[in-house]
Amino acid sequence: MNELRTRVAIVGAGPAGLLLGQLLTAAQIDTVVVERRSRTYVEQRVRAGVIEYGVANLIDDAGAGARMRAEGLVHHGVELRFDGSTHRVALSELTGGKTITVYGQQELVKDLIALREASGAPTLFDTAATALVDLNSPAPSVEVEGPSGALRITCDFVAGCDGSFGLAASSPPPGHVRRYERTYPFSWLGILAEAAPTTKELIYARHERGFALYSMRSPTLSRLYLGVSPTETLADWSDDRIWEELSVRLSTDDSPAVNVGPISERSITSMRSVVIEPMRYGRLLIAGDAAHIVPPTGAKGMNLALGDVRELAAALVSALVEGDERRLDDYSRRCLERVWRAEEFSNYMTEMLHPIDEDEFENAVQRTRLRQATSSPEAGTVFARNYCDLNSL
Ligand code: FAD
Ligand code: DHB
Repeated sequence: MNELRTRVAIVGAGPAGLLLGQLLTAAQIDTVVVERRSRTYVEQRVRAGVIEYGVANLIDDAGAGARMRAEGLVHHGVELRFDGSTHRVALSELTGGKTITVYGQQELVKDLIALREASGAPTLFDTAATALVDLNSPAPSVEVEGPSGALRITCDFVAGCDGSFGLAASSPPPGHVRRYERTYPFSWLGILAEAAPTTKELIYARHERGFALYSMRSPTLSRLYLGVSPTETLADWSDDRIWEELSVRLSTDDSPAVNVGPISERSITSMRSVVIEPMRYGRLLIAGDAAHIVPPTGAKGMNLALGDVRELAAALVSALVEGDERRLDDYSRRCLERVWRAEEFSNYMTEMLHPIDEDEFENAVQRTRLRQATSSPEAGTVFARNYCDLNSL
């Protein structure tokens, strides 16, 4: 087997692995990133779109924010629609001026890959980690399989940023990790459409026929989601049915009709909450979706992943540059406090916005929560702080 030596071996070139690479490169720490998919695949994978206030600043501080600041859409509020009317949550007014930035995850991934390429730090695409070895020794390694065969990457630390169902979370031996999990009885059908956004701000809608979300990517591209049953597939949803359902669920007595256009991307995602504790095993540090999943209502997944990386990069710099491992020892505890807050908020948003068939008690509770979030200044402030900047609170 061929051999390679680096200081931090990073598994996964999603937002977490790439931002970690960027922050460590800036601190002159050598890294190798391995990614089982191709560069084209990861640069085109359509996913998250909402970047929190503090996370946008983190991306900027890492030197990766130029295009996000130039092309990202800055929003000062968000709409909640229910019972036929629209209620705006004034995010900036309620948070002392904070905003969210709408910028596609795949655009951030492109920016981070371009920076990594320019720095000369190696990224091995089409290369899957197959085993994480000797994680309790001072020289752990990652075994990978790529276009030029098998390779062993020996390092000081392994960063497991390989997403849900990755290798990192399943590498600690049984008994070392506790897993918390909940699945929800709905999925999201997401589309990207060549249509000018109908409104300026995001709309989360609870309609008796189900959930709908209006988001966007640019002045000519809309991103929309429908809550669907987990048993449904894309074959059940013709373009006409998608637009008809979006228009019914998003309409209120005085709202404009939803702009329609060709659908360029579509997918169905199931909804789960998962937390793995602790986020460390020996010299393996786990970050992002590899350690936790939130249902997408609330837009916390990528933000949480980048929040972990802020913590992990600082801890690795302390350990590798100053020889002080105390921050690394505290990594999991510090992250999990924030992770559980995001889990709570995403669960609250999910359970407030997805009606449950024939459960009138649950549906009445959901509507009461929505009325409270949009009529009580205190509840509105908590919502706005969590939505805008949970990962920096
Ligand atoms: P990932 O992006 O999953 O990256 C992990 C990488 O590891 C992948 O590229 C994978 O190919 C690679 N990998 C896996 N196994 C191996 C292996 N063995 N060897 C090498 N490489 C491997 N979050 C938000 O914050 N805001 C939103 O608005 C939002 N909307 C979403 C909408 C949808 C429809 C979906 C599906 C998700 C959404 N999310 C959102 C969640 C967000 O996309 C994820 O939380 C985010 O991608 C996590 O980043 P990550 O780097 O931890 O993991
Ligand atoms: C988007 C995704 C989300 O999960 C969300 O809550 C808001 C917006 C988006 O893709 O734009």
